[in-house]
Amino acid sequence: MMPNINPNLFKLRYVTSKAWVDTILADFNSFLNDHAQAEKKASGMAISMLSHYPDRPDLIRAMIDLSIEELAHFREVIKLMQAQGLQLGSDKKDPYINAIRSHIRKGSEKYMLDRLLTAAIIEARGCERFALIARYHSAPEMKNFYQQIADSETKHHLLFIDLATLYFTIPVIEQRLDQLLSIEANIIEKLPLRAALH
Ligand SMILES: [Fe+2]
Ligand SMILES: [Fe+2]
Repeated sequence: MMPNINPNLFKLRYVTSKAWVDTILADFNSFLNDHAQAEKKASGMAISMLSHYPDRPDLIRAMIDLSIEELAHFREVIKLMQAQGLQLGSDKKDPYINAIRSHIRKGSEKYMLDRLLTAAIIEARGCERFALIARYHSAPEMKNFYQQIADSETKHHLLFIDLATLYFTIPVIEQRLDQLLSIEANIIEKLPLRAALH
């Protein structure tokens, strides 16, 4: 678990506001739909990652497990939604994900590093926000559910950093992580508030 990465470096540089939490809690049904879509996309992203790197056995194993876990999260959110008579809506683009991914550089080495590190940051942001829902939601079953999701997302961001350490040196990882964390903070700070994960 991040044996050599400076733990202080991996810290999100924008703290989600209470206004975001209030926006979510005011329209929780819309949030659930967006959350379900985010889990489905996370599972798909893990599969696309392993398809891109058939020659990396560690990455393949990790991405199989991750895709299954994210799909299990998707199943859990769908269960919650259906219990309340809610239907899964159409799949909308996530402006946050698109903005971050636009910073993934070309060139096989840089591309791989950026994919791993952006994935780690996206997971860390999800973890931060799910933990906020666990903290502020008034229903105990929702608190428990979101705490479990947050715990599992914490492991995911570490997983991507661990994978990066298999293929890149610590200074290379730290330098790019430093840049991407600032980029992410800049992106998320400017996004309009809506009843969605981002
Ligand atoms: Fe998830
Ligand atoms: Fe995740």
